[in-house]
Amino acid sequence: DKKNFKHYMLKEIYDQPDIAKYWLEKYLIKDLKTDQFQINYSFDTDFLNSIERIDIVACGTSKHSAMVGKFLLEQFSGIPTNVFFASEFRYSPPPLLCNTLTIGVTQSGETADTIAAISMEIKRRSSIGDRSFKPNLIAITNRVESSIGRQIPNIIDISAGIEIGVAATKTFFAQLLSFYGLAIKFAQIKGSQSNENINQLVLELTKLPGLVEELLEKHNESSEKLAHDFFNIKDVIFLGRGINYPIALEGALKLKEISYINAAGYPAGEMKHGPIALLDKKVPVISIATPGQVFDKVISNAQEAKARDAYLIGVAPQCNGTEIFDYLMTIPSTNEWISPLLAIVPLQLLSYHIASHRGLDVDQPRNLAKSVTVE
Ligand code: F6R
Repeated sequence: DKKNFKHYMLKEIYDQPDIAKYWLEKYLIKDLKTDQFQINYSFDTDFLNSIERIDIVACGTSKHSAMVGKFLLEQFSGIPTNVFFASEFRYSPPPLLCNTLTIGVTQSGETADTIAAISMEIKRRSSIGDRSFKPNLIAITNRVESSIGRQIPNIIDISAGIEIGVAATKTFFAQLLSFYGLAIKFAQIKGSQSNENINQLVLELTKLPGLVEELLEKHNESSEKLAHDFFNIKDVIFLGRGINYPIALEGALKLKEISYINAAGYPAGEMKHGPIALLDKKVPVISIATPGQVFDKVISNAQEAKARDAYLIGVAPQCNGTEIFDYLMTIPSTNEWISPLLAIVPLQLLSYHIASHRGLDVDQPRNLAKSVTVE
């Protein structure tokens, strides 16, 4: 049911505050004796404790969530993590290392490349006698009853409800949440963060339903207006760094998929190594500039783009530095860890409104299918 929304995609973008609320209710539990938060994933502690490195396989939007996951698992939980395109991993996997956790991320649970990559990994690991090379697996999916659900008993159910729009929005958001849960769980088990840091991150996550709700209220109309000015644009560049580099990729993918506009995401520091040659006043640059470690760097990368006459759109809080943007899609100034969960929302709305302005079939874009069950 679309409720009063014109398209499923818009409804699904609006489902996100409830998804955050439900996730917090389902997966966050407070131990009343110790006052500590626990993540309600039913994985064995010894199993998680034995893990020394992580490989994640996924495609498309799911891979972008995995890239945020990598940032969290490495920088918050201290576990070396690699992310692979499932279609590449299945034919050129990395050399085997022991005590590796393999995570398959697929919202539909049916993506052929991801399923095949996992099968291949199970097979090659099972053929080795040494137990430390055995397959250790977790699936992150929206469909527990699916091919990946049958392959992997350890499941994180993202519980986003069925997504009908072909372009993934709410399932991306819910996959991100699953990685926050996993990063917290590992940080507790491995002792890589103090209780105080963990509680701080949990506290930030509990603010999400309200923050995302506010973002929707603030940006729906304004991104519609921006879309009115930009719907005829030919090329768009998205820039981000660190934890928000994957958000630049996801912003670009959403725009490509539903509006058929050429869009590319880059880590902002890479721009000067080539993509900067594309810039002129016809190419808007959308830069994700959230306060934190690399904020000043992102602003100076945006400055380089401005010097080439690019129209600069910032996804950033109103603060010192962000006055350089020609247009600001304001997001609240929060702890850097949770910024991807906020920065993605205005970008989803902007792609939606651009595609809608172009009169395109937003929920059923040409050439795309909801689950890609062929190689
Ligand atoms: C993006 C999109 C695709 C899927 C990809 C993986 O909006 O829909 O890029 O993310 O095909 O699909 P799942 O997650 O079902 O494996």
